[in-house]
Amino acid sequence: MKKQWWHRTVGYQIYPKSFQDTNGDGIGDLQGVIRRLDKIAALGANVIWLCPVFPSPMVDNGYDVSDYMDIDPCFGSMEDMKELIAKAKEKGIRILMDLVANHSSDQHEWFQKALRDPYGKYGNYYVFREGRAGGPPNNWRSIFGGSAWEKVPGRENLYYLHLFTKQQPDLNWENPELREEICRIIREWMELGLGGFRLDAISHLKKNYDYEDLPADGPDGLCLAFDHINNVKGLSDFLLELKEKAFAPSDALTIGEYDNMKPEDVEAVIGENGSFSSVFDFSHTHHNVYYPEWNGDTLGMFNDYRDRLFEAQKVVDGRGLLCNFLENHDKNRCIDRFLAKEDRNPHSIRMLPVTNFFLPGIVFLYQGQEIGMRDFPKKSMDEYVDAPTHAEYEEFLKKGLTPEEALFRINSNSREHSRTPMQWDGSENAGFTTGTPWFAVNPNYTWLNYEAQEKDPDSLLHFYRKLVSVRRRPDLEETFIYGRLIPRLQDRSGILAYERRDERNRILVVTSALSEEMRLPLAEADATEALMNESELLLDNYETAPLFEKGELTLRPWECLVIRLGGKERGTD
Ligand code: GLC
Ligand code: CA
Repeated sequence: MKKQWWHRTVGYQIYPKSFQDTNGDGIGDLQGVIRRLDKIAALGANVIWLCPVFPSPMVDNGYDVSDYMDIDPCFGSMEDMKELIAKAKEKGIRILMDLVANHSSDQHEWFQKALRDPYGKYGNYYVFREGRAGGPPNNWRSIFGGSAWEKVPGRENLYYLHLFTKQQPDLNWENPELREEICRIIREWMELGLGGFRLDAISHLKKNYDYEDLPADGPDGLCLAFDHINNVKGLSDFLLELKEKAFAPSDALTIGEYDNMKPEDVEAVIGENGSFSSVFDFSHTHHNVYYPEWNGDTLGMFNDYRDRLFEAQKVVDGRGLLCNFLENHDKNRCIDRFLAKEDRNPHSIRMLPVTNFFLPGIVFLYQGQEIGMRDFPKKSMDEYVDAPTHAEYEEFLKKGLTPEEALFRINSNSREHSRTPMQWDGSENAGFTTGTPWFAVNPNYTWLNYEAQEKDPDSLLHFYRKLVSVRRRPDLEETFIYGRLIPRLQDRSGILAYERRDERNRILVVTSALSEEMRLPLAEADATEALMNESELLLDNYETAPLFEKGELTLRPWECLVIRLGGKERGTD
């Protein structure tokens, strides 16, 4: 693999609205990010992904952009953005913005012009179609619920396409003029010194417009036509054009939100000449210990999670780098998602990030993950503000769940859990704002906050700092990035283990989701007594030394270990 600057990425994702408010309006802002840059640097991150900060009516918290070339006043100004880029650079941190180019806001000037003249220049920036039989052009379902078509106000029989909310009309990527415009926008941003972009909903750009009705997947007659709207043949032409014209000239890091990468497409998507630098590995985003199929069974879910992680790595097979993460703004918190209530303890919450942090790829942490921020279940749906969360609730009711059952599902799953304000300290509103926060702070902030953990050397925050420092240690970093991956102990239930190996190092990573001790013969991990005796313990979640003797390692409940194997055998690849 040809070396690139971004291979060393340890990223930190910021949801600006909930990160740090500096002017008392209850909404996080760019000055807030600047204020907290030291904390991000202390964690050891070298890239920040900033969720959208462009002007927006905020129907989807910025994922509905009304002007691609400016900053929303609630976040600050262009000057603030430039200041952030410069100050981050001083700390060795590059900024990624979030390019939302599958759709714009319905308030974007382009769409407003398109509505006035659907058959004119800007009409061709969007997807307008005549309805059929008194209804929409076909029965596609929007990803956020309901029909994917909305009637154009004041027109007899005309509709526009929206794969997300109706305030997010899809852009027409078949139109070369639109593509050119997006490339120009990217180039202008890159000129300000950005590190690159995270690319929102990017696998949806191309649609299969055959307009046939598809077999309904629900009582409303609609169909979520994924194979017609995701990863459709021809998509890569658009993506390669973007890369060539917009990203390549400035050597940008691009990470695609690209779901369901097919094995045969790996090369074309993230290979050396692929469309993106990397794509997020979503293998684990379908796991939640409180989904009906797991019903609180942490162990069963963990085994499946492990198999899928390894499967994803096997498919990629060193041809590119996946982006490994556990949390983002679209998922609830990992402690609540992966661990049943009785399984949450100081050991298990430290073990979780170790499961995928040392796999081949680049890594991303999400704001608040480093202090173990938690879900904030609500007593009633009125306390949720996210439209898709409400749509999901309605879907549950339609499927026959009682309101209590539906609320339980939302409480154990809603993406809004990860959007509660960042808990900086124990003062009112967790130090997030002096005003009224736009979304309620989790009341646990009085004990669960950044300041308290910073003072406590045994805290989760310090564990995460250690985690990053191990990964970035100069003599180990290349092994973690380019080294071979050898899954270990795969048939042991509750154990996720692997070795990373190159000519310099052999590093063994072992994590356990077992609530009891487990004795492992070292030979099974291809690690002999000699290797262990001369090994270096890089990371552990117990205070006392790991228990290995006489060719056996006794893993303690929820233990995780990262060990650099010693001895002469190191170096044989
Ligand atoms: C992506 C974003 C999500 C957003 C959606 C529509 O999935 O991550 O937050 O709602 O796209 O833009
Ligand atoms: Ca503010």
